[in-house]
Amino acid sequence: MKKPILAAALFAAMAAFGGNAVLADDHAAGAIKYRQTVMKSIGDHMGGISMVMKGETEVEDIGLHVGEHAKGINASATLIAGAFKAKVDDPSGSTEAKPEIWSDWDGFVKAAEKLEATSAALAEAAATGDKDAMGAALKEVGGSCGGCHKEFRQKKS
Ligand code: HEC
Repeated sequence: MKKPILAAALFAAMAAFGGNAVLADDHAAGAIKYRQTVMKSIGDHMGGISMVMKGETEVEDIGLHVGEHAKGINASATLIAGAFKAKVDDPSGSTEAKPEIWSDWDGFVKAAEKLEATSAALAEAAATGDKDAMGAALKEVGGSCGGCHKEFRQKKS
């Protein structure tokens, strides 16, 4: 009774393997686009925080807006490791990811965890409504972005 199951499993594995070969380029493009999308969401939340903190827009409850953006950063930060894990070729040359991400994977994950911690601290500071506390916590978040980008991102001009 086990044989048909084994044959089916083998067939599924072969189909998956063949499919991967054909779709390798699409898969790589998707992986790169996805990790950039995760980063862009973080960047957009940072942009929102900056606007609110600088008073470029008037919102009634600054703490609410800063706090929810901080939570958004925190949620995306938890996705960084998973989004970057696959080391894929980039024939289109669109990525700004440095190879050090995969040669120093532990260091990269640590940098992502640092952003998780600092964005959580910013959300806590925002809950107090104290703008000075938010400013100080925001600086730490910015430091987490810069710390990782310095090591692991090669910005294209
Ligand atoms: C753990 C490392 C890490 C942390 C932390 C990090 N980044 Fe990034 N970021 C990257 C890497 C790597 C890229 C390049 C990704 C690529 O092009 O494949 C990138 C790209 C970006 C991009 C460009 C996205 C695009 O559209 O291509 C923005 C914007 C960005 N990061 C903003 C931020 C901000 C703001 C923070 C902090 C709140 C932050 N990042 C924290 C590693 C990180």
